[in-house]
Amino acid sequence: MYKISPSVLASDFSRLGDEAERMEKCGADYLHLDVMDGHFVPNISFGAPVISSIRNRCGLVFDVHLMISEPLKYIDDFKKAGADLITFHIESDSPVEETLDKIHAVGCKTGLSIKPKTPAEDVFPYLDKTDMILVMTVEPGFGGQSFMYDTMDKVTAIRNEINRRGLDVDIQVDGGINEETVKVAAKAGANVFVAGSAVFRAEDASVMIETLRKNAEN
Ligand code: DX5
Ligand code: ZN
Repeated sequence: MYKISPSVLASDFSRLGDEAERMEKCGADYLHLDVMDGHFVPNISFGAPVISSIRNRCGLVFDVHLMISEPLKYIDDFKKAGADLITFHIESDSPVEETLDKIHAVGCKTGLSIKPKTPAEDVFPYLDKTDMILVMTVEPGFGGQSFMYDTMDKVTAIRNEINRRGLDVDIQVDGGINEETVKVAAKAGANVFVAGSAVFRAEDASVMIETLRKNAEN
């Protein structure tokens, strides 16, 4: 039920394939791949060819987080690159329902994300059309930022709405997740946890992943 998704944004890009392989050995559930276009967010990371280059190094679920202005245009590319789960932002320029449908049509799971200032209610119309909601717990664009506690009310509101309607939707949180904040986010109703710095800067990544999972459970 609780899943840990290390974000390779905090990894050593010169050894990305090794890092992906290492995360699988360390017991991660997903591998979080942050795609940034320098337009939707003020930073550029990597795109489909880089993801494709590490696909055969790792059997984890490829959890692709698109922080790009026009996600709909690129769904086929990311599917071909090996994405299993594709998340895009409700604040992007692509039509939400059409983009969710497209992701499902290519055979991937869907995630719909909101930035810290976007109200929880904005995702309510899509709860029965998506597999996951990603509530950003920092402003998207950079790793290593501090967890925004005031986003937790949104996690709870979305979890309550999911339960009220009897739906089965994951809630992912991303940004500033560590041994302590994972507890707060789990209590609020999240069940998929992205962690970049916490995992890749840890002395022992497998211990950190296990700790994150345990702390979420308790
Ligand atoms: C931020 C990215 C995050 C980031 C998280 O825009 O979406 O996935 O890598 O990094 P940490 O865990 O270091 O906050
Ligand atoms: Zn992310």
